[in-house]
Amino acid sequence: MNIVIIGTGYVGLVSGVCYAEMGHNVVCVDHDANKIDSLNLGESTIFEPGLNEMMSRNVRSGRLSFSTKTIESVRNAEIVFIAVGTPPLPSGQANLNYVFKAAENIGESLSKYTIVAVKSTVPVGSNDVVEQIISSKFSGDFCVVSLPEFLREGSAIEDTFHPDRIIIGIDNNDERTKEQLKNFYAPLNVPMVFTDRKSSEMIKYASNAFLATKISFINEIANICEKLGANVEEVAYGMGLDNRIGMSFLKAGIGYGGSCFPKDTEALIQIAGNVEHEFKLLRSVVEVNQYQRMKILTKLKNSLGSLEGKEIGIWGLSFKPGTDDIRETPAIEIIDRILDHGGLVKVYDPIAMDNFKKVMDRPNIKWCSSSLRASENCDALCVITEWPEFKYIDLMKLKSIMRRPIIIDGRNIYSDHEIKEAGFDYFPVGKKASRTSGDIFHIQGGEI
Ligand code: UDX
Repeated sequence: MNIVIIGTGYVGLVSGVCYAEMGHNVVCVDHDANKIDSLNLGESTIFEPGLNEMMSRNVRSGRLSFSTKTIESVRNAEIVFIAVGTPPLPSGQANLNYVFKAAENIGESLSKYTIVAVKSTVPVGSNDVVEQIISSKFSGDFCVVSLPEFLREGSAIEDTFHPDRIIIGIDNNDERTKEQLKNFYAPLNVPMVFTDRKSSEMIKYASNAFLATKISFINEIANICEKLGANVEEVAYGMGLDNRIGMSFLKAGIGYGGSCFPKDTEALIQIAGNVEHEFKLLRSVVEVNQYQRMKILTKLKNSLGSLEGKEIGIWGLSFKPGTDDIRETPAIEIIDRILDHGGLVKVYDPIAMDNFKKVMDRPNIKWCSSSLRASENCDALCVITEWPEFKYIDLMKLKSIMRRPIIIDGRNIYSDHEIKEAGFDYFPVGKKASRTSGDIFHIQGGEI
């Protein structure tokens, strides 16, 4: 099929490359000429394992190209995907300007029956507006479909080819569109759920909000475990074996970040508010997430006293491993607070340093070239992102170069055994802290 994808962010670019890999002719369109130039040179604008090679292969085969020209590209398409950003407005509401602009451009370009599939996460009912915008420009036959995307950064290609399900929201029981989309996704051999457009839009928000809820729930359990001397990992394992609960998204840590969960939870609170429903549970999920980030600071302060003049190592800046994405990463707020309290930070991340430098321009930050460099002479070390190289570090060596052997582990990457053997004061999440002078149950003291 001839496919056009509008928007070359995470979702748009990965989908475009994967659809070309499936054998379709794909044009990825973006108004950002610099981005399109880079992509045409074969340079991916995002870091995603395996993407560059797959992209180059499909460009070489002639199935994949990049353009700034919507009208020419859309004219021959059978399916046009809208995959532009819906960033949060200061109110938390999703900004739909890019989606509506894309709809306008599509309306001006259509010449024959075309499916317009909206992958951007949009508030319930927005696709009705997309339809209105297109029909105000094009009087022929077309169908607007809600096709939410569930891929995760870092495993985006795998998620595109092997999703748990494909949700397709179509109104008016449009059989022609249904058949065409069935054929398009048939090679993936995964469950397809056909529903109405509004339910489909809600499925996306509800899924992300539910996963965020799971994370905040286990983080709260972790906080209680810390005080009682229980172990949240054991608890999560015991809970997760219950099929109704499941193992995934029960990893306690310093809270969720990234481009989706923070934005989509806030947006769903707004969506509910717009119909005069206060989504109390989700408000608490967001609040718990905010608090969880600050726990690192509390632990630092309780182990070091004042942070004034103290050198703190920061391992990891991206919101999760496997990506250089720093959107809504807890690292921003944690580093800001350490600096506000007079601390000095030494930071290291395997791939997210350049992106982080763009948003964090403060004195007293030392950008380091390795994890060991970022720990040299430090009074404490904070693990923010669970990159594998941190887990496999030589702990004896690490201890020998730090001023004080203190690790505040926001991601529980070490076992009690290895920490004890190396002799660190260790503060994990939801598990007993341990000091070289003997175990302690929990840290006393207030918040900072
Ligand atoms: C998420 C959704 O998973 C995906 O379906 C949607 O399309 C976009 O948003 P992503 O943001 O790429 O994907 O990352 P994900 O792997 O879901 O992790 C999100 C955040 O939750 C990360 O900050 C991660 O560290 C945190 N997390 C995840 C936990 O703290 N504990 C967990 O058990 C799982």
